[in-house]
Amino acid sequence: MKALHSFILLLSLTLAACGGGTSNESEAQATPPAMTPEEKMLAEGKGVGEIKFVELKTPLEAERVDRGKAIYDMKCAACHKLTDKRFVGPGFQDVTNRRKPEWIMNMVTNVEVMLEKDEEAQKLLQLCLTRMPNQNVSIGDARDILEFMRSNDGEK
Ligand code: HEC
Repeated sequence: MKALHSFILLLSLTLAACGGGTSNESEAQATPPAMTPEEKMLAEGKGVGEIKFVELKTPLEAERVDRGKAIYDMKCAACHKLTDKRFVGPGFQDVTNRRKPEWIMNMVTNVEVMLEKDEEAQKLLQLCLTRMPNQNVSIGDARDILEFMRSNDGEK
């Protein structure tokens, strides 16, 4: 009887001793550190910048396509072909399949920060060895360019 008592005493002491501390610690390790909204955007392949969500419509908006083409001719054609051929920067063919629309628009409107923080943008820089300059493109203009890119990729 005495032996049983001391066994129970020992058991409860042991449980108390390793109870609290360790289980809290392992809980803390199991919970991943909270992501900031920016880290979440980057992890989701949306890049970093003001554009968090883009709604795409089908069929394409023809007016946007035309405006986007005009902006492309003026501000982008010097470095980007519409084929898959790299010039100063990558060719635009298939870009709307390679990238999320948010990523494309953030790249166009927030290129300095993209090159600093987005891994995919950094890979392109390593490939092209030229930093894409900030072209002072408004969000509305970037949206028009995106529509033109979709049209260039054969969307109707
Ligand atoms: C002076 C050359 C230059 C001009 C002008 C330029 N870009 Fe770029 N662009 C680049 C380079 C170089 C890269 C690759 C990233 C880097 O090295 O900075 C790039 C990358 C991109 C990408 C990513 C392409 C991919 O394959 O993921 C997009 C999208 C883009 N540019 C859009 C534009 C748009 C839209 C314009 C016009 C408003 C424009 N760029 C004007 C040089 C340029």
